[in-house]
Amino acid sequence: MKENQINPWGSESVKDYDKLLKQFGIEDFKQLMPKIKDPMLTMKRGIIFGHRDFGRIVDAIQKRRKFVMLTGLMPSGKFHLGHKMVADEIIYLQQKGARTYLLVADIEAYNMRGQKLEELRKTAIEEYLVNYIALGLKPKKTDFYFQSQRSSDAEKSNAYYRLIGMVSKRTTFNEMRAIYGELTPGKIMSVFTQVADILHPQLPEFEGKCPVVVPVGVDQDPHIKLTRDIAARMNGNKEADFIPPGSFYHEFMPGLKGVDTKMSSSDPLSYIALTDSPKVAKEKIMKYAFSGGGNSLEEHRKYGGRTKVDIAYHMLYYMFEPDDKKLAKIKQDYGSGRLLTGELKQILVDKLTSFLEKHQDAREKAKKKVNDFLD
Ligand code: TRP
Repeated sequence: MKENQINPWGSESVKDYDKLLKQFGIEDFKQLMPKIKDPMLTMKRGIIFGHRDFGRIVDAIQKRRKFVMLTGLMPSGKFHLGHKMVADEIIYLQQKGARTYLLVADIEAYNMRGQKLEELRKTAIEEYLVNYIALGLKPKKTDFYFQSQRSSDAEKSNAYYRLIGMVSKRTTFNEMRAIYGELTPGKIMSVFTQVADILHPQLPEFEGKCPVVVPVGVDQDPHIKLTRDIAARMNGNKEADFIPPGSFYHEFMPGLKGVDTKMSSSDPLSYIALTDSPKVAKEKIMKYAFSGGGNSLEEHRKYGGRTKVDIAYHMLYYMFEPDDKKLAKIKQDYGSGRLLTGELKQILVDKLTSFLEKHQDAREKAKKKVNDFLD
């Protein structure tokens, strides 16, 4: 992998987000903050660190104009706290008035991972959709679809597949190779499908021309950039009239094993799943969450703990302690050695337990609502 590439199909964790901003022309999210009336916790804390053209969306929200939120998921095993970060973003934007497009990238998963369409469908519904609903997704103005099955409305379906078929005209093999490195037929197909995913809400068969935002992990930025370029070229050739879609990016929630790792569905000891029982979650935190505490009680009391590398602290920071004052006190107490690792972890476990208990009740109710979202 070349230094100047982000790899959408890799599993690397990102080390240096500032460098990403400079190298790829992603804009700094901080500068938008004064304009956002009611920001998410992850926006305030700088976890959402970059964007392209999100200013248009901030504007649309303020003026109550039509806009679209679209994002895609590749079903892979258990839905964990890393996935919840995206779900929270989706639901936030929906509450701000977004028409919500949620797609299951089953064709991409089929081509790139060799998974079966039937199994992908099952995981997408039982894991992802049920959790989205339990977290607050509403069926109103939500369009949930599969890449393999766009819509029962033939005109809509045709418009989407037509666009997949047409976008290739506005890029070249060399451009794609420069962006993605080595190409395979599966990658090429996935890219064109994703470009059409992101652009099709603006077709006359759907919402018509309007701002679109795509909240994703920063590994997806190459697709966003290419989609924006293709949109501009189609406009230039009078083939379409698209507003270049925008995006924003969050840092990945670290995996339990350390700040330089990712929560990954392929390693159960790296994540807390939203279906983990409070007991299992507690055990994972107590046993496996990397601690920045001292090697012994004396050392810890003397030198303090390091919040910079402590996973329990990170989880409070990312999600579970929204109160800045309380968080600052935890940081201070841990850093000074007054608060011990076990005590810090217990603070997290208490928060996590009450979240999981509530969420798992909500999941049971959500299961009954799944059909409201399916075509
Ligand atoms: N490539 C995305 C992933 O790996 C899935 C995806 C497909 C997607 N189409 C999309 C994401 C459109 C955002 C927008 O997860």
